[in-house]
Amino acid sequence: MAQTIAVLDFGSQYTQVIARRIRECHVYSKIYHFSTPVATLRAEGVIGIILSGGPSSVFAKEAPLPDQAIFTMGVPVLGICYGLQLMGHLLDGRVAKSTHREYGHGTLHIQKPGRLFAQLPKKLRVWNSHGDRLIKLPPGFQAIGTTENSEYAAIEDRPRNFYGIQFHPEVFHTERGIDVYQNFLFGVCGAKRNWTMKNFIDHTVAGIRTKVGPGRVLLGLSGGVDSSVAAALIHRAIGKQLTCVFVDNGLLRLGERAQVEALYKKHFRIDVRVVDAAELFLRRLKGVSEPEQKRKIIGRTFVEVFEKSLKTIGHADFLGQGTLYPDVIESVAIGNNPAALIKTHHNVGGLPARMKLQLLEPLRELFKDEVRIVGAKLGLPREVVWRQPFPGPGLGVRVMGEISKDRLDILRKADAILQEEMMASGTYWKVWQSFCVFLPVKTVGVVGDERNYAWVIAVRVVESIDAMTADWARLPYDLLQKISSRITNEVRGVSRVVLDISSKPPATIEWE
Ligand code: XMP
Repeated sequence: MAQTIAVLDFGSQYTQVIARRIRECHVYSKIYHFSTPVATLRAEGVIGIILSGGPSSVFAKEAPLPDQAIFTMGVPVLGICYGLQLMGHLLDGRVAKSTHREYGHGTLHIQKPGRLFAQLPKKLRVWNSHGDRLIKLPPGFQAIGTTENSEYAAIEDRPRNFYGIQFHPEVFHTERGIDVYQNFLFGVCGAKRNWTMKNFIDHTVAGIRTKVGPGRVLLGLSGGVDSSVAAALIHRAIGKQLTCVFVDNGLLRLGERAQVEALYKKHFRIDVRVVDAAELFLRRLKGVSEPEQKRKIIGRTFVEVFEKSLKTIGHADFLGQGTLYPDVIESVAIGNNPAALIKTHHNVGGLPARMKLQLLEPLRELFKDEVRIVGAKLGLPREVVWRQPFPGPGLGVRVMGEISKDRLDILRKADAILQEEMMASGTYWKVWQSFCVFLPVKTVGVVGDERNYAWVIAVRVVESIDAMTADWARLPYDLLQKISSRITNEVRGVSRVVLDISSKPPATIEWE
């Protein structure tokens, strides 16, 4: 990219949100480790720098510091929260240590709109979360906004294009926060609006063609958003040089394999090889009930089946993968920054190295919301683009205890009813995940005049932003009633439906 806004990450939980907000303004933004040398930033076409917030204090012994040459590099700098304090500290102002944090809503009184607050009202509700504060301006700076607790809640050094704000414009609680970013991007940095998903597609398609040349690409299609969009994008670039492998591991949902075949093979005319390995997976899983062991067996068997499929497909040069930007950001682990703790699930770990394939990861630069836009632009249907997450080990981690074909079939039928009702009521699109879990517990029910001793199905529906925390969705009783009565009436072998009302934490989203 010719112009980049660098976000130097000092460990804020909002760092990724800052980069996303900038990209929403159609400007390319990238997250860098806080210590990235200026030479690197220059080489990458950085036209403006944002110093993120962070949990540290500038007084801490190990306080994270940037390459100080950023202040003589000649590009605008915007310090947010800890970023503002860093500017105060490093540019000869004074920061006062504080024993308590200011957290929550405040009112920013804009004294001087200048470029940063151009076109904004004189008073703004803003979100604060900081301990230390600036008590003396660095030379060359002046205050442009104040809050109840801070004389220097917003500062500028107009000739050098340095700005500092104590509040967080990237969070939803800050009024008109996006305007603050736009003013910085367009009014201060002179950025162009050229980061669009159409440009991304054109640029990436050309890049894939150059990289792959006459080579062949192999891609494991799971039906999830990331691998689907990666497949559609690579296919647009190189057509028949792409071969996708879809492994039926016997742990798929009802009709899933047929849907994949209909969409990718028939509609997109992608060369998709469906490998039916259900029997092998179920044989290996027989008698296994420990969740981690199940995951290992499923992962290992997948790699084996995938590798074997190469023999019939023939030589390949590249392995296509739907890796996203959050997976490649080098997260800064300071304090309790949750971004540094995200659990990544490596479902195909180690595969490329063993297969001696080069990696082709066309979505490496994108956030999930951008991947969805790309998917829609490439013609993927809403059901794929907005599909709920589904774990790599599939229903294998949703049948509690030992897995068998009978149990999987019961779960598949119950789950299909749940999805049908979620779709019919439009609720499917509003929640993070909705699924059924098979419980290996038998309870008594009555069918007609007879007692029926049968299994229990749990319904799990959660709301979440990023899967790190989740809350159980408050579904309407009528909808729950319909789901429950349909499952107990239509699925043989189920006598009872229960609802999971646990949040994460302390529970997890999946049951295993
Ligand atoms: P938990 O259960 O940890 O799940 O709250 C968080 C998110 O991750 C998904 N998940 C998995 N995804 N392989 C995956 O690809 C796995 O082994 C796996 N386990 C959980 C889960 O569906 C939820 O979205």
